Amino acid sequence: MCISMWILLALFAMDVVANDNLRVAYQWKQIDFEYPNIGERQAAITNSTFISENVVPVGLEVYKNRLFITLPRWKKGVPASLAYIDLNDNFTQSPALKPYPSWSAHRVTNDEVPEIISPFRVRADNCGRLWVLDTGVENIANEANATVLSPTRLLIYDLHNDNLLRSYKFPDDHIKDSSFFVSIAVEDENCDDSYAYSADLGKPGLVIYSWKSQSSWRMTHNFFHPDPTAGNFSINNITFQWEDGLFGLALSKPQPPDNHPTLYFHPFVSMDEFQVSTKFLKNETLATSNEIYKEFKRIGSRGPNGQSSVEFLDKKTGVLFYTLPNLNAIACWKTSNKEYTLKSQGRIFMDPVLMEFPNDVKVDDQSRLWVLSDRLQKFLYSELDSNEINFRILTATVQDAISHTACDPKTKRLPDIINKLSDLIKTTAKPSTKSNAEKFYASGLIVLSSILMRTVF
Ligand SMILES: *[C@@H]1O[C@H](CO)[C@@H](O)[C@H](O)[C@H]1NC(C)=O
Ligand SMILES: *[C@@H]1O[C@H](CO)[C@@H](O)[C@H](O)[C@H]1NC(C)=O
Ligand SMILES: *[C@@H]1O[C@H](CO)[C@@H](O)[C@H](O)[C@H]1NC(C)=O
Ligand SMILES: *[C@@H]1O[C@H](CO)[C@@H](O)[C@H](O)[C@H]1NC(C)=O
Ligand SMILES: *[C@@H]1O[C@H](CO)[C@@H](O)[C@H](O)[C@H]1NC(C)=O
Ligand SMILES: *[C@@H]1O[C@H](CO)[C@@H](O)[C@H](O)[C@H]1NC(C)=O
Repeated sequence: MCISMWILLALFAMDVVANDNLRVAYQWKQIDFEYPNIGERQAAITNSTFISENVVPVGLEVYKNRLFITLPRWKKGVPASLAYIDLNDNFTQSPALKPYPSWSAHRVTNDEVPEIISPFRVRADNCGRLWVLDTGVENIANEANATVLSPTRLLIYDLHNDNLLRSYKFPDDHIKDSSFFVSIAVEDENCDDSYAYSADLGKPGLVIYSWKSQSSWRMTHNFFHPDPTAGNFSINNITFQWEDGLFGLALSKPQPPDNHPTLYFHPFVSMDEFQVSTKFLKNETLATSNEIYKEFKRIGSRGPNGQSSVEFLDKKTGVLFYTLPNLNAIACWKTSNKEYTLKSQGRIFMDPVLMEFPNDVKVDDQSRLWVLSDRLQKFLYSELDSNEINFRILTATVQDAISHTACDPKTKRLPDIINKLSDLIKTTAKPSTKSNAEKFYASGLIVLSSILMRTVF
């Protein structure tokens, strides 16, 4: 093992007293929907409009008392691709989902495509609007059978009354041969002059939509491309190779000197994190000029197995949260840190079962962190077992989530990097409670064994 692997081990070992204190708020073996009555549900099962084993939750968002979930049409039998649960109805941990905004918005008929086809991620902005980035594609899991029902669209709903405010089709020249848009960030400081940023992971690019001008432009940058050496994934014994480009997008609050937010971003197949001021993206002339490449910066690297899909920045604390699917983990980085290194990252939660393929992460307006994990690798490359819990939504307040991690505002000095196993074991003796110690031993071993599995054998 080379030193960097030990450093990675130390990264997650560092949070010796890490709480890992997200709790499971909801969990499902399979997803069910709230039909108007039992008869309609049964009819939908009989005519295969609802095939429960083909429904997988991917994206999540929380606005007031509603928790939204996207359910892309990977395979046949997804009756509604966007739905929600009411956070007040918490008498069951496995509620049936209600289609959003209505059943009719999802109805597939022979001569009409549904209003919402197949979104992966949505964003509820500060102005009470829900931005739905709809790929427009069904049967995505099987490339040969994938069907484009509509070009990629932005659907924008008014969350006060659930009316569709706008449906914006991406112009033809935004959509390239291998384009695929699955993540979105919204700059919403000014409700009349908002911008949506949509990441193209297939033909690496960024589409910027202006609410005010009702127009969009597409831009590219070398930093949007996947790192060809970072494509290997190994998640709970399922190995595969992906080539996804630009994926994670997160916006900070406006920054001095000229009060534009910073866009943090990364390709999925990469260990690196990047940033650029949105000042250079919001002006079409600038965004598409050859000159602004200089404005993009590489911040640093997450290290081995540090591929990350979604990220989200909590504006109140300035903490960036992101998924680490290869490590069954959610991690964080305090944007006030000068360095983006292994050492400056914190472990929020890590668990091979509860965090098997983290797929979305958000912070709501009450400073609660929400994470969805869904065993996606198993759904795509093996088979989900309907007797097991497959999908989970975990939550905690941001304060609880980051306490005792490198992202805790109270953390002054970080422990030195542990580079010998004996040091690691000595450190583990410290935690005061048995359960913490056990938790730590377990997670340390998991990281160690995953590193061994992936890089030595
Ligand atoms: C299947 O059944 C559902 C529920 O009755 C109905 O809404 C839908 O139109 C049916 N679809 C087809 C293709 O028959
Ligand atoms: C259920 O919801 C109520 C009100 O939102 C909340 O006070 C309570 O903690 C919730 N219970 C659980 C188990 O989440
Ligand atoms: C793809 O479509 C063909 C023809 O309609 C069908 O026979 C096959 O089962 C489909 N494959 C999948 C994985 O859905
Ligand atoms: C990726 O996996 C393949 C197959 O196991 C292996 O040959 C290759 O060395 C791996 N690449 C990297 C960069 O780890
Ligand atoms: C992975 O495979 C090893 C060896 O077969 C097994 O011991 C381990 O339990 C498996 N891990 C998971 C998460 O399935
Ligand atoms: C966009 O940038 C160009 C080039 O710097 C500048 O000339 C133009 O005034 C800017 N447009 C707006 C609306 O700020």
